[in-house]
Amino acid sequence: MGGLTTVILAAGAGTRMKSDRAKVAHELSGMTMLSWVLEAADSAGSGKNIVVVGHQAEAVRALVPDGTPCVLQEQRMGTGHAVMMAADLLHSSAGTILVLCGDTPLLRGETLRAAWEKHLQAGNAATVLTSLPPDPTGYGRIVRNAENRVTGIVEHRDATPGELEIREINTGVFLFDAEALLTALPLLKNENSQGEYYLTDTLGIILSEGGLVGAHLVEDEKETLGINDRAQLAEADGVLQQRIRERHMKAGVTFRLPETSWIAADVAIGPDTIIMPGTCLEKGSVIGPGCLIGPHARIVSSTLAQGVQVANSVVVESEIGEETKVGPYAYLRPGSRIGRHVKIGDFVEIKKSIIGDDTKISHLTYVGDAEVGQRVNFGCGVVVVNYDGRNKHRTVIGDDAFIGCNVNLVSPVEVKEHAYIAAGSTITSEVPAFALAIARSRQTVLEDWVKRKGYDKPKGT
Ligand code: UD1
Ligand code: CA
Repeated sequence: MGGLTTVILAAGAGTRMKSDRAKVAHELSGMTMLSWVLEAADSAGSGKNIVVVGHQAEAVRALVPDGTPCVLQEQRMGTGHAVMMAADLLHSSAGTILVLCGDTPLLRGETLRAAWEKHLQAGNAATVLTSLPPDPTGYGRIVRNAENRVTGIVEHRDATPGELEIREINTGVFLFDAEALLTALPLLKNENSQGEYYLTDTLGIILSEGGLVGAHLVEDEKETLGINDRAQLAEADGVLQQRIRERHMKAGVTFRLPETSWIAADVAIGPDTIIMPGTCLEKGSVIGPGCLIGPHARIVSSTLAQGVQVANSVVVESEIGEETKVGPYAYLRPGSRIGRHVKIGDFVEIKKSIIGDDTKISHLTYVGDAEVGQRVNFGCGVVVVNYDGRNKHRTVIGDDAFIGCNVNLVSPVEVKEHAYIAAGSTITSEVPAFALAIARSRQTVLEDWVKRKGYDKPKGT
């Protein structure tokens, strides 16, 4: 039966996106549009993918994995012309050629594979994937004869009023016998309203050469959605989000108000984790089992161990150990490694710091560029003063240290294990182990000062 080679058309400008970026570079659920299409081709069983690039060719090439060839279509002269650009890389022995559009990211690999199998079983030289959208406006229409066999495709703008009544449309996806396609391509003409070489015209050529042409209806017309503007981008993202959430739910994840959360395609979530409303799990995050995430959490490229809780907080490029509780309203910035059973409470910001197991940083605290041991207790309002206006410096705090409320730790500084720091201290030099450091002026009390000033009487008397 030969293998499957895929040609992905991605040379178009995508003007309706109103964007500086190439259309296929726009992201859906954390992956570029083009990556979704390449992934569908791979999971359909494609042995080789070829991407046709044109508009912003270099930017599009950069999205393609190494080893996947790109061919340049310098002038966009139609979908048929785009496939011609790949002809040199196609061989008549290649078996089946699958043509996909870079802007149709919802097609599933299994759908493409089913169409391929049907194409081979029917002995077709060409199979077009069709669908029945509620509104066929703008799409090419599938023309069938009295025996219901496909005879061709007519573009919306070239269609007669009778043809515009046809509801079955061309999704833009085709399967071709390689030899039939390579024979038909050079015979395409650009005699139509747009002066373009239409890939759709290959069907008529193949029929006239005696080849069999068939159609494969994609049952779920949502899969065939083409992205032309931002509204369709949002719609497609919604469809992918639903698929992603369903996959996690099947694997044992609970979602409360599922449609309010957004999960990137590459995120992993352990079983018995609960995702509360308004949660965003982004780019490569790994959430362990039995976690409670949200409401309103944003977790980016971070790894959370088992039983972690993150409420109303932002975690970026950080690691959090087992059973640690974060939030509400905490911010873990890149490079933070938080141990097990730690508490990072409200209005606490941690930046590029290591926090040991069982440490508590409960409220209104900033910790930056620090290495904090185990069982350390931070009072309310501690500030690690890590920046002198020029350079960042490190702070090291030993195990079992106790940092009083409203303490400033002026870095670089070291607080040894079991040391105590009195509330309100500004610490500028090392605090030895088991010592108490007090670094503030002594309290002065002036007896009866208020009376002497007369401030105890109402104003103006
Ligand atoms: C095309 C089909 C139409 C179908 C629709 C489905 C033709 C003639 N028409 O119309 O029947 O219903 O898709 O969405 O094939 N491209 C290139 N180079 C070109 C032209 C296009 O690479 O010279 C790429 C585009 O980037 C896009 C795809 O081919 O990914 C489809 O092109 P587009 O211009 O969007 O075709 P439609 O007019 O939508
Ligand atoms: Ca299109």
